[in-house]
Amino acid sequence: MASLEDLIPTVNKLQDVMYASGIDTLDLPVLAVVGSQSSGKSSILETLVGRDFLPRGTGIVTRRPLVLQLNNIKPSSLVRDVKGDEDDDAEATEDEKPQEWGEFLHLPGKKFYDFDEIRHEIEHETARIAGKNKGISKLPINLKIFSPHVLNLTLVDLPGITKVPIGEQPIDIEKQIKNLILDYIATPNCLILAVSPANVDLVNSESLKLAKEVDPKGRRTIGVITKLDLMDSGTNAMDILLGKVYPLELGFVGIVNRSQQDIQLNISVKQALENEDHYFARHPVYRTIANRCGTRYLAKLLNKTLMGHIRDKLPDIKTKLNMLINQTEKDLMSFGSNGLIDKKESKSGLILQLMNKFATNFISSIDGNSSNIN
Ligand code: GDP
Ligand code: NA
Ligand code: MG
Repeated sequence: MASLEDLIPTVNKLQDVMYASGIDTLDLPVLAVVGSQSSGKSSILETLVGRDFLPRGTGIVTRRPLVLQLNNIKPSSLVRDVKGDEDDDAEATEDEKPQEWGEFLHLPGKKFYDFDEIRHEIEHETARIAGKNKGISKLPINLKIFSPHVLNLTLVDLPGITKVPIGEQPIDIEKQIKNLILDYIATPNCLILAVSPANVDLVNSESLKLAKEVDPKGRRTIGVITKLDLMDSGTNAMDILLGKVYPLELGFVGIVNRSQQDIQLNISVKQALENEDHYFARHPVYRTIANRCGTRYLAKLLNKTLMGHIRDKLPDIKTKLNMLINQTEKDLMSFGSNGLIDKKESKSGLILQLMNKFATNFISSIDGNSSNIN
């Protein structure tokens, strides 16, 4: 097997099976973005995905966890999918057909080709569960993005840490949000993307404080310093980026996201990435470490780290999956012996089939004789 990257789509599908079956005991590798409000979390996610699609605005916008599965697809297979033959206008068809789309778990089968519609659906789903007046909910929204331009990653966007209750928020909003975040990042195989804005003293970083609670040795936390462009002139974050200020095994990555003005000017994600590259390449101080800066580098680091993580966790996942299969088989047998033939049973049967399929795939991929799992 050339790369464990092939395994991630399988892990993602398995996660869907777990959600559908109400079993959430598998510690699947996910990457959670943590930070205070307006630290730049949504901006980072959008740049990693390469598209504008997240609800944005001032104040608390992300009010439910968003589990975002990025799935890399090859453009050629997409064309084959859409069109069975290769005639003269095959090229034109490829140009016309949308190359990327999103799908929500709560709307099975519906493909969203318009990323503005994805944003509206997130807003709608957020309001449906968490209300219209700033309330938060633990219940996640599950969104998959299929695109030739993304690395295979699973990301979780979490509500920002906030101190003062507004709207319908309860008096203990800070505690509630922190607990919600801790629910995700306490899982040992969750990678924590701890975002801190460069224009706030690192000592006061809420994300690093929370990460430290669950990852005291800094083994699965990546520090992300945003808003480097907003630091006071004459100051820089070089010592932080070089790991001299705060110890994290995976280190810190400096980022320059789109400013509010860039967003108002409709600067595209692509343009923003180019601007960011130029920012670091031309910067009098950061140019010396430009190859370790920026969202592009962050994406590579994330993928690499995630691969290592999955590799370490595979034997454990396999064991848990086999246990679940055995349990489900037992449950099915007891349904059968009690003569309980209903929808529940056929649903369990389906889930069992799916789990068995995934278990087989896991085993073959661990054995290294499968490179393309579907
Ligand atoms: P979130 O609340 O953590 O999701 O933060 P957002 O991504 O919504 O960003 C909040 C605001 O900060 C937006 O107006 C962004 O344009 C701005 N912003 C985020 N990152 C940067 C950055 O690196 N530089 C500048 N100048 N502005 C940024
Ligand atoms: Na915000
Ligand atoms: Mg946000």
